[in-house]
Amino acid sequence: MNISDKQLGHEVTVHDHAKITNSEFGIYTEVGMYNFLENSTFGDFSYTGQFCFVQNTEIGKYSNIAAMVRIGPTDHPYERPTLHHFTYRRKMYGFSDTDDEQFFEHRESRKTVIGHDTWIGHGAIISPEVTIGHGAVIGAGAVVTKDVEPYAIVVGVPGKQIKKRFSDDIIEKLLKIEWWHWSYDKVKENLDDFYLPIEEFVNKHYED
Ligand SMILES: CC(C)(COP(=O)(O)OP(=O)(O)OC[C@H]1O[C@@H](n2cnc3c(N)ncnc32)[C@H](O)[C@@H]1OP(=O)(O)O)[C@@H](O)C(=O)NCCC(=O)NCCS
Repeated sequence: MNISDKQLGHEVTVHDHAKITNSEFGIYTEVGMYNFLENSTFGDFSYTGQFCFVQNTEIGKYSNIAAMVRIGPTDHPYERPTLHHFTYRRKMYGFSDTDDEQFFEHRESRKTVIGHDTWIGHGAIISPEVTIGHGAVIGAGAVVTKDVEPYAIVVGVPGKQIKKRFSDDIIEKLLKIEWWHWSYDKVKENLDDFYLPIEEFVNKHYED
């Protein structure tokens, strides 16, 4: 199907071969083909491209996640004598009747947060427990190991901020406007405003 013919709805659209466990989705959300998702939430209008891996992550609204992105990659316990997963996936190898549930619970507790209106570039990796601020851009191929400020643009390995999308004054006002929490009807009615120069958008919608 051509992307311009695609019509999303209130139920999440899941493309072929995606595997989803214990995850929740807002309206107009979309999961790309061959995604692996677990213990994660997608806010309204957020989507992933092809071949993404998202674990233990809370994604805000209107997040744009390109193909081959990995968010919240899980760690092996490198302080143990072996790195091999038989120490926590004991049942798989007949070593025990139980797995190391505490280890899995700890993994799940390490939540990664992706803010509203974010853009995560192709192939980026976002470490567990990192928070990506609202409006931030993560460049293609970045490995982000530390929190990212709202509206920052971060690139490279390890990810470093190269600039911000807007001035501090504009950012502060956008964070108060919180247009991402507008109703569907309000976004639709104000659609033309999203093409305005940022100063005009902010002047029109910011209230002290
Ligand atoms: C991050 C990004 C948005 C920045 O774009 P931009 O504002 O036009 O940035 P510029 O091209 O002016 O580059 C600014 C500097 O950052 C560097 N840079 C830009 N993107 C980079 C990246 N992904 N990784 C490492 N360095 C990068 C440039 O080399 C340049 O360095 P310099 O100042 O030393 O010359 C863009 O480069 C990017 O990565 N986009 C993602 C595209 C993508 O993944 N699309 C998938 C489909 S959604």
